[in-house]
Amino acid sequence: MSEKILVIGANGQIGTELVTALRGINGAENVIACDINDPAYAIRNSGPFELANVLDKDNLHHIFEKHRPTQVYLLAAILSALGEQKPKMAWDLNMTGLLNVMDFAVEFKVSKVFWPSSIAVFGPHSPQHNTPQYCVMDPNTVYGFSKLAGERWCEYYFNKYGVDVRSLRYPGLIGWRANPGGGTTDYAVHIFHEAIKKGQYQSFLSAQTALPMMYMDDAIRATIELMAAPAEKIKIRSSYNLAGISFTPEMLANEITKHLPGFKMSYAESDPRQAIADSWPKSIDDSDAQRDWGWKMEYDLAGMTEDMLVNLKKLYS
Ligand code: SER
Repeated sequence: MSEKILVIGANGQIGTELVTALRGINGAENVIACDINDPAYAIRNSGPFELANVLDKDNLHHIFEKHRPTQVYLLAAILSALGEQKPKMAWDLNMTGLLNVMDFAVEFKVSKVFWPSSIAVFGPHSPQHNTPQYCVMDPNTVYGFSKLAGERWCEYYFNKYGVDVRSLRYPGLIGWRANPGGGTTDYAVHIFHEAIKKGQYQSFLSAQTALPMMYMDDAIRATIELMAAPAEKIKIRSSYNLAGISFTPEMLANEITKHLPGFKMSYAESDPRQAIADSWPKSIDDSDAQRDWGWKMEYDLAGMTEDMLVNLKKLYS
């Protein structure tokens, strides 16, 4: 039987790339991109699209009824920095959106659900280096505790209703095809665009702020591998740690300078996103993902930087 896949939040940084990858695997007509806004040209023209607001239960029910999905990817969310400006809205979207989709997953007997969590589930009292899968978690952003509560709900729907839900705690994601919006790790994407366009960039995080990051190609592959793994291999139904590359703004600037020797980096004197970054892990232990479903990352800092620059140069030329 062929899959019918709904990707909700298809216009975002992850959705843009995931829809393309899933259409390549499953056939464009079997992947329905859904978003609250009209899509970018590429998504609109490469397969089916539905306007969908995860908080509008009637509209969402209609979409499930019409397409009878076998898989759902719920990517619609408000990220960490924007969430601090709109805390109630972030909670509502991130939480009620998840519960609406989970209820329909039960009602329509969806075979598999993917929902992204984040390194933001950790907080100032979590171990900062090689942060383990299980430890103290005291996130202090609305985004962080909405993701932590969401993880609990995912596990609950698995245990109580048998929903085959799978999740990853994504690090900061870096890709050239789509821009991030409203996150604390966004600097690591903006820097590449500005380096090529202007030869300089002012980082809103300080030079020594290490954070876990990952190249988008690895993140998409992790998502697809997790979803393809046999159900019995998925031992964690809340969300898996996913490590990626750990680096500081200064390390990234130095790597970019190897390709663009005149590149100049400066640092903002203060920015509210610094406190968020300081509350997050510097590096992650993802040995459970490696053991359970064979996860292995491919892109290191050098490989990611080179690939970003090659592709963005083509885009801007
Ligand atoms: N990239 C996200 C953010 O910065 C973390 O999951 O909010």
